[in-house]
Amino acid sequence: MSRPTKPKPSGGRESFLIFMVVGCGILATLSMNSLTTPPAEQHDAGGTQAAVPSAPPLVEQQPDKPIALVDVPLATGEEPLDKLFVQSGCAVCHTIPGIGPAQGRQGPKLVLGTNGPTRLADPNYHGTAESVREYIQESILSPGTYIVPGYSDRVMPRWYGKRLNAKSLDRIAHYLEGLEE
Ligand code: HEC
Repeated sequence: MSRPTKPKPSGGRESFLIFMVVGCGILATLSMNSLTTPPAEQHDAGGTQAAVPSAPPLVEQQPDKPIALVDVPLATGEEPLDKLFVQSGCAVCHTIPGIGPAQGRQGPKLVLGTNGPTRLADPNYHGTAESVREYIQESILSPGTYIVPGYSDRVMPRWYGKRLNAKSLDRIAHYLEGLEE
């Protein structure tokens, strides 16, 4: 099939339409390209700064897979406790005694020394934890297992198992199990 690229001077209504369609396609492709091409070196304001070196990747990037937010670790586990709770996001949703910045109200106040045994004794508890420590770990790694009465499911993130390292998890659980009210 021959595709005319120019409208014929006469009698070419149909070929003119084809020309328009092809032309628009080319224009659209060109403008898409210019949109997706990053502007070159626009950050050199005033010429005072040399090119800013880009930050090293936080995690090793697999060539075939772009880094997703959930792959980036939240905390190293070495930071002071209050920082650990802030950096892990817990402080946004939970009030945690002894952790100043943790005044959140979306989730229950974390006093697991007091509430942990109550949760385990609840007939609606169908998880596998046998100690308060395990209950805390389960609550973090698998928040849907038991929903604290009066609170919503699916509010607490499901990705902690991927983003909290073992040391962080351990220190968090150790601290929380000691909190009483
Ligand atoms: C976006 C809000 C949000 C964040 C962030 C969040 N949680 Fe929660 N969490 C909740 C809610 C809501 C509940 C109650 C519903 C449920 O049981 O899933 C809950 C329940 C819990 C429980 C069970 C409490 C109890 O009294 O039985 C624990 C333990 C817990 N969260 C720990 C954490 C820790 C530790 C972090 C940080 C690593 C964290 N949460 C981050 C919202 C959040």
